[in-house]
Amino acid sequence: QDPRIRRIASSIRVVPDFPKKGIMFQDITTLLLDPKAFKDTADLFVERYTGKGISVVAGVEARGFIFGPPIALAIGAKFIPLRKPRKLPGEVISENYVLEYGTDCLQMHVDAVQPGERALVVDDLIATGGTLCAAISLLERAGAEVVECACVIELPELKGREKLNGKPLYILMESH
Ligand code: PRP
Ligand code: MG
Repeated sequence: QDPRIRRIASSIRVVPDFPKKGIMFQDITTLLLDPKAFKDTADLFVERYTGKGISVVAGVEARGFIFGPPIALAIGAKFIPLRKPRKLPGEVISENYVLEYGTDCLQMHVDAVQPGERALVVDDLIATGGTLCAAISLLERAGAEVVECACVIELPELKGREKLNGKPLYILMESH
């Protein structure tokens, strides 16, 4: 395992019973307070995705907006924000999804991507997989090919990976 991952893992604060009882909240804001851990996180993704022909990095609001743009800048791809409802001013497509705690919807500008573009979906964490599944659907409906999803953390007990219909998922660490 890459030695950088240990430092990244120890920079993430785990908060029990937030936002609800029984949830071990993975707080990545403390990772952002450690510039080396934050840079190493971006670098690990950039090393994996450089030269893979990816022209689109799509980040999921809100925490995918933190990890997606540094990757997009470094690999020379555009960044597409996948947003919560009623935030985007242009023509949008929408996907509803079930979350670990509640339900939500993601929207994307239809003209953000051209058919055949190769896309990477970025978020901080995969829990049930509902969020990434919605993100993949939006990009595929717009004609993009989702090459992979990338997250910092996976909660493997929730088996979110199985919801991605075989779509590759790359993570830096598991959290139990
Ligand atoms: C969290 C997390 C992922 C999602 C994972 O986002 O950032 O996006 O849940 O859950 P899932 O795999 O069960 O779908 P959340 O919508 O809670 O809020 P955020 O706006 O802070 O990112
Ligand atoms: Mg999120």
